[in-house]
Amino acid sequence: MSVSLRIGIIGGSGWLGGAIAASILDAGLLEPRKLSLSYRGKQPDRFLNSFWTADNQALADRSDVIFLSVRPDDWHPLDVDAGGKLVISVMAGIGLAALSQHHKTGRVVRALPNAAAEVAKSYTPWIGTSEVTENDGAVVRAIFEACGSQDEVARESDIDYLTGLSGSGPALPALLAAAMMDDAVARGLPAEIARRAVNTVMTGAGRLLERRDESPEDVVQTFLDYRGTTAAAIESMRAAGFDASIAKGLSAAFEKSVSMGKVS
Ligand SMILES: NC(=O)c1ccc[n+]([C@@H]2O[C@H](COP(=O)([O-])OP(=O)(O)OC[C@H]3O[C@@H](n4cnc5c(N)ncnc54)[C@H](OP(=O)(O)O)[C@@H]3O)[C@@H](O)[C@H]2O)c1
Repeated sequence: MSVSLRIGIIGGSGWLGGAIAASILDAGLLEPRKLSLSYRGKQPDRFLNSFWTADNQALADRSDVIFLSVRPDDWHPLDVDAGGKLVISVMAGIGLAALSQHHKTGRVVRALPNAAAEVAKSYTPWIGTSEVTENDGAVVRAIFEACGSQDEVARESDIDYLTGLSGSGPALPALLAAAMMDDAVARGLPAEIARRAVNTVMTGAGRLLERRDESPEDVVQTFLDYRGTTAAAIESMRAAGFDASIAKGLSAAFEKSVSMGKVS
């Protein structure tokens, strides 16, 4: 699919906005000249065939679809009239009703990609208001498929929950990897070897999951049934509170997401 619409990304200078721009251009979804991006400080030295501006209203006026990709604290003072156009927010915590009122449009989508958009491997859940049309939905799907994979969810609270699970998600294997690396180095392994061992485990495990697409619990059970070193590690980590620690972390992210939307 290609999109004939013009897309504007407010905060296209940032990490996620830039990753989304790169993914949709790389996928050939959009011609560079139909893409506008805004910045606040310094104009980045990328997407040079697209339109850069520091004027967010000018970006909105020349776009059919307006992305909001600034930090939630920077969104509150953002004064942009979308005039009924499709607005897609990727900001954590800001709800559909507030977005709709703030930008004067009923056609609003709240989406939550993650850092893996940078390598077109994001998982992006999204939900739209009742005024989002079928065509809007098709555009949203095409954009987030270009960034990885996507699902439309039924409840807005699912987005708040997934903000922790998949939005913050890429940080969680990184946390596990850092703990594994610390242990390896503490046991005397050279840091370079520890780093390569841990990073290769992470990327290899990701590839295996991608190819098999099994339920993670089935993968864990296969290792437990093998009754080897891996089962010893899993049982010991679970006895030390591994699952409870993950549940606590996801709850903290969920609560943070809800509280971010309440900042006035
Ligand atoms: N990064 C992730 O993995 C991730 C995942 C899910 C959701 N999100 C959401 O995505 C949003 C952006 O996150 P990010 O990580 O990309 O943050 P970021 O790297 O800080 O990018 C935000 C960008 O917005 C620019 N900006 C701020 N105010 C602006 C304004 N008034 N007009 C134009 N540009 C403005 C900033 O410019 P300056 O540098 O000049 O301040 C910055 O380049 C956040 O709301 C976050 O919740 C991020």
